[in-house]
Amino acid sequence: MAEQLNGLYRNAMCGELRLADLNKEVVLNGWVQRRRNLGGLIFIDVRDKSGICQVVFDQNCSVFEKAETLRSEFVIAVKGIVCERQSKTNKIPTGDIEIIASDLKILSEAETTPFEILDDTNVSEQLRLKYRYLDLRRASLQNKLQVRYNITKATRNYLDKIGFTEIETPFLGKSTPEGARDYLVPSRVHEGCFYALPQSPQLYKQLLMISGMDRYFQITKCFRDEDLRANRQPEFTQIDLEMSFVEKETDVMYPIEGLVKEIFAENGINLPQEHFKTLTYAEAMDNYGSDKPDTRFGLKLINVSDIVADCGFKVFTDAVTFGSVRCINAKGLADKLSRKDMDALGEFIKTVGAKGLAWATWQTGGEFKSPIAKFLTQEVLDKIFERTNFEQGDSLFFVADKNTVVYNALGALRLHLAEKFNLFDKSTFDILWVTEFPMFEYSEEEGRYVAMHHPFTAMKDEDLDFLETAPEKIRAKAYDLVINGQEAGGGSIRIHRQDIQKRVFAALGFTEEEIKNKFGFFVEAFKYGAPPHGGLAFGLDRLAMLLTGTENIKDVIAFPKVQNASCLMSDAPGFVEEKQLKELNLIK
Ligand code: AMO
Ligand code: AMP
Repeated sequence: MAEQLNGLYRNAMCGELRLADLNKEVVLNGWVQRRRNLGGLIFIDVRDKSGICQVVFDQNCSVFEKAETLRSEFVIAVKGIVCERQSKTNKIPTGDIEIIASDLKILSEAETTPFEILDDTNVSEQLRLKYRYLDLRRASLQNKLQVRYNITKATRNYLDKIGFTEIETPFLGKSTPEGARDYLVPSRVHEGCFYALPQSPQLYKQLLMISGMDRYFQITKCFRDEDLRANRQPEFTQIDLEMSFVEKETDVMYPIEGLVKEIFAENGINLPQEHFKTLTYAEAMDNYGSDKPDTRFGLKLINVSDIVADCGFKVFTDAVTFGSVRCINAKGLADKLSRKDMDALGEFIKTVGAKGLAWATWQTGGEFKSPIAKFLTQEVLDKIFERTNFEQGDSLFFVADKNTVVYNALGALRLHLAEKFNLFDKSTFDILWVTEFPMFEYSEEEGRYVAMHHPFTAMKDEDLDFLETAPEKIRAKAYDLVINGQEAGGGSIRIHRQDIQKRVFAALGFTEEEIKNKFGFFVEAFKYGAPPHGGLAFGLDRLAMLLTGTENIKDVIAFPKVQNASCLMSDAPGFVEEKQLKELNLIK
């Protein structure tokens, strides 16, 4: 096939033609969205990346017969004159015009596709992912990939302007300390040895600071073999940054705020000039039950442990001894909550880890009702009402348990109620920093302290002396960027002094041998002059989700994996030949 476009080189894009283009002769290249044959006239909707345009073939035109053979998803080149449309439509931006065709070339035919390429589709996600390249023909997905690109473009422009250099780091490396399961790659040359795909470039970027690169960034894939959720993929992309000669959290947070504003602006959203608000981890947990709170609505947690400590109701008094009793005042929701709703919320709370939900409700003009009132004195009730500002029209929800359970359950109930009763405007953005995370958390499973972020995170200077006495009290110089209740990014100031790093490893219970095996090369580097440094990594996929308003991470990834980490289109992962396994010494 010598001829391809047969002279019909495109000089216009389907979605861009308007009345201002009247009488122009244009050539469009694209796909047949649909064809309608009205006897003497054939209407074709032609689609390309920019949109859709109607093309009309009159029976007197020389290519009318060829046009009769067109079917959905044929790829064509069509020439014609831009004319004003008789029956205009405002359903598409090109609805005022149409092309009266004079020439047509079929560039490629198409079999009937497994599903129609429509923006509003109810085809199952499974089928769409199997034919992802067809799914991606839909404008809504193409737009999302465009937003994703806008983010990376803005990132590169902005970081370049403020002195960052993009540097690639290896995929075939040693295990990094992010704490998820590694994806391993067997070495053919070194029998029994494996590379680990990076969970993040953490070690390398810190080494680049020791190298004197000063300000590094990279937009790169990270690999984590963990349970997938709506906002997690086994391979995802980070916008990863590190800066030297920074000390305070704000040294890193402020330039990053500038980056976030630039990214939003590139996508048409102007954020206010001022600094993002900051909550400490303790404030976030106490008020919202979450270290990634959505603060677009209230429903804050209220601690009533002191009031109920001796109230005589065993569920509450017991909990106070090993945890707490906290509640939410669902202000003004009492009238909307039926008895059935209360039971449903009681069931809901069990799905998020609590043993039960106690409630009290007072409908407007109705009676106060509460299954636990009989266990409490009026004095205790009055104190609770006062603390929670409980009034007619309100409902209170209590959870009594270990703190972690109470936070988790009420944090989830808060979101659930806000969602159910539409308590906030979903189109607004709520951006905040959460700082002062605990450095360590105790792992029951491992019987030791583990680093909440990673073991290279620096600590508040005034907390250093707790390293040997009360590690759980130490606050890290760590910060997460939370957008609309999602962790969009996280980072920290790093330890750059060897003596402190040693004490941290000791608090984590690592032996010299373990340190040497795990990150010997890394620790060694700190002997030769390390600048104070810190950084952060954004989840690019999550930023793209937030900016496109989707709750499904797959929507912002061209070729995503499904829940069980497989790709429905390519069928990866797949079996390989025995020969390959032998070469890799995986079988004898
Ligand atoms: P962290 O582990 O918090 O930090 O990861 C940074 C950001 O990456 C995103 N993210 C994910 N996105 C999609 N799928 C996943 N499975 C996934 N896991 C994480 C989140 C998260 O905020 N090296 C440190 C950063 C640093 O300290 O500089 C790190 O990787 O948005
Ligand atoms: P019980 O005495 O177990 O029947 O519980 C009395 C009330 O307390 C019921 O309304 C339960 O839903 C509620 N309840 C039980 N356990 C908890 C808990 N851990 N936190 C809050 N409320 C609870």
